[in-house]
Parts: sequence; structure tokens; C-alpha cells
Amino acid sequence: MRVYFDNAATTPIDEAVIAAMTAAMQNNYGNPSSIHKLGREARAVIEEARKTVANCLNASIGEIFFTSGGTESNNMALKCSVRDLGVERIITSPIEHHCVLHTIDTLKKYDNIVCDFVNLDKEGVPDYMHLEELLQDQSKKTLVALMHGNNEVGSLLDLEKVAEICENNNALFHSDTTQTMGYFPIDVSKTKIHFLTGAAHKFYGPKGVGFIYINGDNRIFPLMDGGAQERNMRGGTENIYGIVGMAKALELAYQNLDERKQHVEYLRAYMKAQLEENFEDIQFNNSDEKYLYKVLSVSFPPSAKSDLLLLNLDIAGISASGGSACSSGAEKASHVLEALFPDSDRKTIRFSFSHKNTTEEVDYVMEKLKKMVAVKASQTNQISI
Ligand SMILES: Cc1ncc(COP(=O)(O)O)c(C=O)c1O
Repeated sequence: MRVYFDNAATTPIDEAVIAAMTAAMQNNYGNPSSIHKLGREARAVIEEARKTVANCLNASIGEIFFTSGGTESNNMALKCSVRDLGVERIITSPIEHHCVLHTIDTLKKYDNIVCDFVNLDKEGVPDYMHLEELLQDQSKKTLVALMHGNNEVGSLLDLEKVAEICENNNALFHSDTTQTMGYFPIDVSKTKIHFLTGAAHKFYGPKGVGFIYINGDNRIFPLMDGGAQERNMRGGTENIYGIVGMAKALELAYQNLDERKQHVEYLRAYMKAQLEENFEDIQFNNSDEKYLYKVLSVSFPPSAKSDLLLLNLDIAGISASGGSACSSGAEKASHVLEALFPDSDRKTIRFSFSHKNTTEEVDYVMEKLKKMVAVKASQTNQISI
């Protein structure tokens, strides 16, 4: 049996998405920039996909630009707002994805950008009062870059609140929504956000394709120079099959949002209850009030048994993660966990669920886990080794 509980790293592709992509591969091989019939048809398919993505966010089609994924979109929001919108200061948090933090490092190095970190609570939620305090200094044009849902611990930002704080304090607001796109409704006509990002592979679409939403009031220039594709905003022949797959996946995600959410929340609660029942001294790394519902991040007390937990889970047929996908291969200390729990020597595992997972899979994982980590004394006689 193989159980896939690593859906925050990436998701399997939905059957309907594969079908839409296959049809595009068979029929739409023309270059969307060619003026003949096949080119025009390919262009129409891309524009149809743009309309779908824009509708999902209540954005206008002119505000959606296709990219290669979350990393590129975040680079674009940060670098272009410094280069083209006069941003001189960025307020962010230490638990952002590396594609945000490392981009800011580059901007600090080459563009003299000032960077301030907002305080976080122990679950990774920003202190909104501190954000307001930081924004009192308006001597430099400021961009607030705070992620919506944290990929490692599942903390959730109050998007509306931060948008309002930014608006009241003349700051631009970029949110890395790579983990939440397709999981929470986002209406950009109501919430004033300047940049948002999406990556298809996080919502049952293909890898290597994503988009950026750029609020129409902001005039930025391409990060990637080349041809006139993406209305002069990103040179290079479009990834038409990826774009078609992404639009289909996002449409399905929003059509089935409540149903998927309910199922995933149920699985998460089911697994959490079992972990609490069976293991001593475990710690969950996000709040139960407001959280990214696909993520269950749990820390086990240090022990010889928990040391190779991720590897042992994999051998038992279970895919989970120790931190973000980028660091999990090497099992390096996660910058997110270090920022939130600096002195901890606990072993953290991130289980992340999809609507395709089942309670039987949770039962299987629990059965295996009980053989890998010390269980509560009251549970020992129930285990068959
Ligand atoms: C929060 C967050 N931002 C950005 C990214 C990068 O997205 P991509 O892999 O599509 O470049 C990820 C992917 O792990 C993520 O979880």
C-alpha cells in the first residue's frame, strides 16, 4: 500500500485535468503567436483559460498573467515592485517560502532594499498590531509580503485584515497564495491585494505552470524579456497545455471547494484525535481556529525511535514530509520550524491531505506509526508488532 500524505508539497493530477490537457495536446499544437488558424485557435484556448482563472478570483482578465509557478510569480511581484513601483522597503516574516525570502535577500544585496520582519505568535500568525506599528514609518515606499497559508505548519493569515491595514497605511500588499489558491475563496474585487500567486500543482493541476494576479492599478514591466506574449509581460512561447490544465484544475477546485474542504477537515481531525490518543507529549504546530486545513504538522518528542521517522514512514509506504519539499529531501532543519521553535529538538512530521485520501489510509498510517514512535503506556498492549 502507498499512502500519499504530502499534498502540500504537490498534488496528483486530476483525471479531468489530464483529459483537458490531452485534448489540447492533440488539437492545439499551433503557436499562439502565429496568425494562421491553428495559431489563432491556440491563442483562443489560452484566453479562455485566462477568463476561467480571472472568474475564480473575480479579477479582470487583464490582471492575470501566466508564469511557470509560485516561485516565478513571487519573484515577479517582489522584484518588479522594487524596480517599477518605487518600493524601497519590504515587510515580511521569517516563515515565508524560500522563493520569497531569497528574493528579498537578492533585493537587499543589489537594490539596497530595507527589510523588516513582523512578529509572529507561536503558531506563525503575524502580530497585526506590530504590522501597523511598522507601517507608521512611511518614509519609504513599502511592500508587505506575507503568505496566506504556511506550507510547513499551516498557519493562516487574515488576508482581509492585512489588506485593510496596508490600504490604511499606503503600503502595497503581496500575498503568496500558492498553498491556498483553490482552497479558500478569494475575491479581489472586495479584498485590496496588489499581487497574488498560484501554482497549478498545488491544486491537482500540472507542475511548472502558475499565474500571478497583478491588480490593474499597478503598471509593472516584464521580469522575463522576450516576445510580446502575455501582453508584453512575459516573453516566451506559452505553456499552453499547462495553462489549459491549470484553468481546469482551478475551476474544479472552486466548484468543489466546500465538499473537498469538508472531507479534508474530517480526515485531519480524525488523524489528530488518533495521534492525541496514542502518543505521549506530542505537539501540533498550528491553531485549531484558523488554519490551512490540508496541513497537520505534528512534533514528536526526541528519541532514538523518532530520529529516522520520515525514512521509516517511506519504507512503510507512506509519503509525508519533514518540512518543505525543497528541504525535505536533504532532511535539513526547516527555517520555519527554527523561527517558530528555536530551541526545539523535537521531530516534526507534516502530513498533508487531499480530498482523494481516505480514513482507511489514516488507519494504515496510525498502525505503522505506532511501531515507530513510543506510544502511551495505556496503548502498549493493543499493539501487534
Ligand atoms: C508557500 C509556497 N510558495 C511558493 C512555492 C513555490 O511554488 P512552485 O513550486 O510552483 O515554484 C511553494 C511550493 O512549495 C509554496 O509552498
